[in-house]
Amino acid sequence: MRVVGSIATAGLLLAPYALGASSASEAEVIIPNDHPLIYYHGRWDASPGTWWAGSGFKLHVQDLSTLTLNLGPHTTAPLASVGVSVDYEPFYTVNVSAGANVIPLNGSPSSPQMKGTASVVRINVEGWQDNRINLEAISLNKGARLLPYTPSRLAFQFIGDSLSALTSGVGSGSQGQFLPEGVNQAWPFLTGESFKAEHRVNAQPGAALSDIVSYGNEHGVSYQYFRTEDTGYFYTTDHNYTTPWNFARDQPAPTHIVMHIGANDASQNVTADSFVQTYQNFLTRLRGLYSSQPIFVFTPWGWPSADGTISYYYQGRYERIVDERHHLGDHNVFLVNTTGWVTWEDVFPDNQHPNIPGHQKIASLFEAWLIRWGLRPETRWATPAPLIG
Ligand SMILES: *[C@@H]1O[C@H](CO)[C@@H](O)[C@H](O)[C@H]1NC(C)=O
Ligand SMILES: *[C@@H]1O[C@H](CO)[C@@H](O)[C@H](O)[C@H]1NC(C)=O
Ligand SMILES: *[C@@H]1O[C@H](CO)[C@@H](O)[C@H](O)[C@H]1NC(C)=O
Ligand SMILES: *[C@@H]1O[C@H](CO)[C@@H](O)[C@H](O)[C@H]1NC(C)=O
Repeated sequence: MRVVGSIATAGLLLAPYALGASSASEAEVIIPNDHPLIYYHGRWDASPGTWWAGSGFKLHVQDLSTLTLNLGPHTTAPLASVGVSVDYEPFYTVNVSAGANVIPLNGSPSSPQMKGTASVVRINVEGWQDNRINLEAISLNKGARLLPYTPSRLAFQFIGDSLSALTSGVGSGSQGQFLPEGVNQAWPFLTGESFKAEHRVNAQPGAALSDIVSYGNEHGVSYQYFRTEDTGYFYTTDHNYTTPWNFARDQPAPTHIVMHIGANDASQNVTADSFVQTYQNFLTRLRGLYSSQPIFVFTPWGWPSADGTISYYYQGRYERIVDERHHLGDHNVFLVNTTGWVTWEDVFPDNQHPNIPGHQKIASLFEAWLIRWGLRPETRWATPAPLIG
């Protein structure tokens, strides 16, 4: 369900000015951005501001009826699109800007206004660009109280390119064909949701794994993954630099790592041998962060054409990458053979990237794969919400 509009229009029709300054001044509960009960996820800089699609925060709030995001000057102008979900209901888009943004909470049928109930609100940036929200404070209604948010035991880390996060206008001719709700509709996000897991998506459209300039990305993912900022920093006047990411801030640490990358290396004519070497070096570096977690290496599902053929790249090389890890004694790296997962009907004809049903199909195929592999979805979210089992 997609819901737009303001909560001010729900139930306050007889008092259209009721949310004005007088109610805000004394009534509201102000949560500063350094409040320990804000559960941040994804990559945030010191301002604090988001980078990378999917970054955001979660709140567990007792007696919630209104929520306003007060955003600072490092927020994308004129707006950034965020996905909002209340009590694990479907995400809907809210466009926010620097200043005060009343977030409609009417996406939830479970009536968060009910006295004595606690709601879970999840908010994340949707885009791979124009994705900066600079959180100064959160205002809640009088009487609302933050509770701890307990993260899931499962935490996915996805690493990829536009095939994991295409949200708008990548490459020529693709304008207008994209996921309207951004990363929230992409297979990594959907997979994380279906396992009731925490999930972080570091996917940079146009970027190669190799650290080369590619389709407007100043760096490849083998470099940028270790940074706070996505490669959009290069085009940003108020933050034209990149800083190391402190992986200790990823709490909980990822339990499962998923990689689907290589399409842009292939397009940039990176040789297969060079690509394999870069991938190996990257995995070695990941093992420094994630000593024993399973790593899932996707083979490309390729570029489908209208005539039913599919063009593959680096054929046999992903197998080699995984075999080589096994030879090194690292048996916790697994090949996910995605051959045949994506056909012409699953992609946007203009840019051959998965469309909305295509992403859902990929997510369900990968979910089935993971279940066969031995991973069980959580039966319930670790932080319960009213009316959710
Ligand atoms: C958010 O802004 C984008 C870009 O202006 C627009 O296309 C979209 O319809 C807006 N979405 C909502 C829910 O307001
Ligand atoms: C950011 O800095 C780089 C040099 O490091 C420069 O090439 C680029 O044009 C700058 N971008 C902006 C938006 O100022
Ligand atoms: C890659 O090689 C092909 C075939 O030689 C060539 O047409 C294309 O321009 C090259 N692309 C890049 C980015 O160098
Ligand atoms: C991947 O799957 C395809 C289609 O089922 C099959 O032809 C191919 O041999 C598989 N590759 C590997 C490495 O298992």
